[in-house]
Amino acid sequence: MSKTLLIIAHTPSPNTAALAKAGLDACLGYDGYDHCEIKTRCLSPFDVTSPDLLAADAVIIGTTENIGYMAGATKDMFDRCYNDWLGNSDAKPVAIYIRAGLDGTATKRALTSICGSLKWRLVAEPVILHGDWNDAFCKEVGDLCLGLAAGLDAGIF
Ligand SMILES: Cc1cc2nc3c(=O)[nH]c(=O)nc-3n(C[C@H](O)[C@H](O)[C@H](O)COP(=O)(O)O)c2cc1C
Repeated sequence: MSKTLLIIAHTPSPNTAALAKAGLDACLGYDGYDHCEIKTRCLSPFDVTSPDLLAADAVIIGTTENIGYMAGATKDMFDRCYNDWLGNSDAKPVAIYIRAGLDGTATKRALTSICGSLKWRLVAEPVILHGDWNDAFCKEVGDLCLGLAAGLDAGIF
């Protein structure tokens, strides 16, 4: 049996691209139980269409915070897809990471609210990576994504 994990990552900078790569690499390198194959794909929110998420067994959303809110790219995705997802993706397991210069709390609040409205299941506390860049951020994102892959594999999510 195989399951699909979708990483939706907004990557406007080398650092945010490194975060997405860390998440994807963690999932692609996941060597779980032999009864389940986890297929992972990574898309820009600009490229996500509603069927991409509907076909996924779980989703990770990685966004920046810009001007006190989630990136416009991430917001645009919800603007385009929200109505299709509403009622058709209940209980979708979701994890979130946010790269922010200083803060990230407004983006966390907004994404948590949207996920709640869509009746998605937030399976981990959203990870906020703020302040000066730290290479350890990549490990945090890798661990988040790995946890989702392992949970899917084990049938927890
Ligand atoms: C136009 C603009 C607005 C931003 N607004 C915020 C903000 O409101 N809160 C915040 O914490 N960071 C803000 N940032 C910082 C970005 O979140 C950060 O630069 C981005 O996540 C990329 O991270 P990096 O610099 O490590 O590549 C802003 C950046 C830009 C370019």
